[in-house]
Amino acid sequence: MSKLSEIAGGPDYQLLDSGNASKLERLGPYLIVRPSPQAIWTPRLPAAAWQRADATYERDASGGGEWRFHTKVKREFDILFSKLSLRIKLTNFGHLGLFPEQADNWEWLRTVIRNRLQQTGGRNLHVLNLFAYTGGSTLAASQAGAHVVHLDAAKGVVDWAKRNAQLSGLEERPIRWLFDDALKFVRREERRQARYQGIILDPPSFGRGPKGEVFKIEQDLIPLLEACRAILAPDAYFVLYSCHTPGFTPLVLHNQLIELVHDRKGTIESGEMVIPDSQGRSLPSGAYARWLAQP
Ligand SMILES: C[S@@+](CC[C@H](N)C(=O)[O-])C[C@H]1O[C@@H](n2cnc3c(N)ncnc32)[C@H](O)[C@@H]1O
Repeated sequence: MSKLSEIAGGPDYQLLDSGNASKLERLGPYLIVRPSPQAIWTPRLPAAAWQRADATYERDASGGGEWRFHTKVKREFDILFSKLSLRIKLTNFGHLGLFPEQADNWEWLRTVIRNRLQQTGGRNLHVLNLFAYTGGSTLAASQAGAHVVHLDAAKGVVDWAKRNAQLSGLEERPIRWLFDDALKFVRREERRQARYQGIILDPPSFGRGPKGEVFKIEQDLIPLLEACRAILAPDAYFVLYSCHTPGFTPLVLHNQLIELVHDRKGTIESGEMVIPDSQGRSLPSGAYARWLAQP
């Protein structure tokens, strides 16, 4: 295993190259080409390497897209990534159920949660994961010993996350699996006086709750952050906020996160999420800001 694949999360995933607004990835046994709009540069590998791809996702003018298969490809298979066993699905939207750029955030979660549990002699640490998708952050937090509330609007992806928990041997861990609207749920938790020591959120640019509730990041993010502020416990320990919305740079996330924790002692670090490739380049893939309480 190369050093780069270790950074990127494991032997079953590797970003091989990027360029011409595309990326070439290896997932388990397959080479896959998918769009990557920011990769406006020249690929380093020869065209022949890209032509060996087993599947290519091609976007159409309407924003949709479809897979083209060049060999016989299973549309569902499992990989090991970042100390987890995860189901990969080649969905009709071109998503695979994995954002490899989160690997560094998952490792950070494991470290801070373990440190906190050590400091407190293992007292329960309750974590809320919003827009939790297929569960990578939930499972990393759970591996480190947290109690996790995992919330997503789509029942299908909650079931997928549960499957990932089973595959990773974490099905007995204290995880509550919910499908609900993020903002509604957080406001309800405030009224019920539920409080969390850690909050994770990875909001999309646009999404819908289970009853059609619309989430638009430009108008709903600040109300959501305010609601999250109300459910942070007095002994809250961390907030991990990440995002892929164009224009939401590390500094934008940093400034937004300050509002959430301005009355607490601690530090915020922010940066780009990246996927290192095997050519020595990194592919920018969104931004993060993380707050850690001062002990
Ligand atoms: C992982 S996040 C976004 C990932 C990445 N940041 C991006 O922009 O593609 C997407 C998840 O949010 C969920 N989601 C969308 N709207 C939601 C809402 N109103 N409440 C809860 N979850 C929602 C979706 O079902 C999806 O699993």
